[in-house]
Amino acid sequence: MFCLPQQESTAPTTCTGSASTQDMESGYGDGLQGECLRKPDQKQPKLYGVGDPTATFSSDSSYLSSRGRVIKWFWDSVEEGYRTYHMDEYDEDKNPSGIINLGTSENKLCFDLLSWRLTQGDMLHVEPSLLQYPDWRGHLFLREEVAKFLSFYCKSSAPLKPENVVVLNGCASLFSALATVLCEAGEALLIPTPYYGAITQHIYLYGNVRLAYVYLDSKVTGLNTRPFQLTVEKLEMALQGVSSEGVKVKGLILINPQNPLGDVYSPEELQDFLRFAMRHKLHVIMDEVYMLSVFEESLGYRSVLSLERLPDPQRTHVMWATSKDFGMSGLRFGVLYTENQHVATAVASLCRYHGLSGLVQHQMAQLLRDHDWISQVYLPENHARLKAAHTFVSEELRALGIPFVSRGAGFFIWADLRKHLCKGTFEEEALLWRQFLDNKVLLSSGKTFECKEPGWFRVVFSDKENRLRLGMQRMRQVLEGQSQVVEDASPCQEPQSQPR
Ligand SMILES: Cc1ncc(COP(=O)(O)O)c(C=O)c1O
Repeated sequence: MFCLPQQESTAPTTCTGSASTQDMESGYGDGLQGECLRKPDQKQPKLYGVGDPTATFSSDSSYLSSRGRVIKWFWDSVEEGYRTYHMDEYDEDKNPSGIINLGTSENKLCFDLLSWRLTQGDMLHVEPSLLQYPDWRGHLFLREEVAKFLSFYCKSSAPLKPENVVVLNGCASLFSALATVLCEAGEALLIPTPYYGAITQHIYLYGNVRLAYVYLDSKVTGLNTRPFQLTVEKLEMALQGVSSEGVKVKGLILINPQNPLGDVYSPEELQDFLRFAMRHKLHVIMDEVYMLSVFEESLGYRSVLSLERLPDPQRTHVMWATSKDFGMSGLRFGVLYTENQHVATAVASLCRYHGLSGLVQHQMAQLLRDHDWISQVYLPENHARLKAAHTFVSEELRALGIPFVSRGAGFFIWADLRKHLCKGTFEEEALLWRQFLDNKVLLSSGKTFECKEPGWFRVVFSDKENRLRLGMQRMRQVLEGQSQVVEDASPCQEPQSQPR
């Protein structure tokens, strides 16, 4: 139990067993043992909210424009864990006491396969056009391969077309470009929470576009058959609430498979959400960056591009990248697929600033056309390794008595550490996060995903087992250190720093 010092004495929050408001269906990990009993006066979470990305902004730099100060402030405040990690990265030989990164969503399991494929003879090719200014949408040879690749792996009902493809340097840039070309400054895009929190910056730093939150919670009651379930009713309520505050909503962002929940939407749900968007003339930005990282086939994942008919194709824009599914977050390759030529052209115009080197375009075309290697070697092995790593971390979490949500897609487990907070506040959550970091394990706390319930953490499992084992050991030390504090002293007292 991790507790801030406080004035009045408060009984520590206790946890029930399985008979609680949270479902324990095996699909959510057998370790989801139920949520802590909250205090009766605890407020119900709000159903919607409008993000204010600079709510706590402060700056001291007179060298920068006001915009530059905000941009620098994001780097200083939001990226602390990431920067700390890069100054002290764990390395088996060179830095065994460095930080284990279970916080950044990267797949580190398949470097051997990828380095083999990327060093084959067909990868290195130079011709004048690859060294000259390209079509900013991407070379045609690459857009043709992307269209074939997406048609095949998304199981599209009809062949997808190269003219609907724009390639650029990753989904982060694509979020930034789409927000800028779809919204006026100050307008908003609807997003269910918890969500991959960096989208806040992606759409704000250039486009000055905000997020409007559809707050989801972990309770399984009534129509909610799974934790953090999105429904059309919740979308409608949030849209109404946000609009009543005078904020214009221009679109809806859906992440499928979801980050951080590792969940997928069924085709029926997808259709419902798309029809909701069409009713309100909202654009839909479908982020499918984890579409080939579904390692539980029973989930029945379906890309939006596989649907027989899109309700509003002119307002449906799909993004994908190699950063996750091909474990190449440093290579920077992303794709937009949209039938709307106005949107494709406007994004392509921004690709002057987000474009790809001709040599990388050649390599990506070679990679994406190699369906034999992808289907017979890479994907089966990648999925087997993801599954094994997921099993390992799930079992460690169960052994620690930590409930979690995870269904078999993506690189992460959404872990419920609420019983380790005394009062259930975000201050305690932040302190627990820091305790982990001080003990050399980086996690991502729920606040960074705009989760409404303090105490959730995302644990990334797509790394080698020795690193996972050490990371889990370090987590255990912190959590056991807390219990020690509770046993040794009165509850709700500031904990001691953890052993290294
Ligand atoms: C859901 C989601 N979308 C987009 C991105 C950014 O992708 P990229 O590395 O291609 O910019 C991430 C990265 O973590 C992500 O999780």
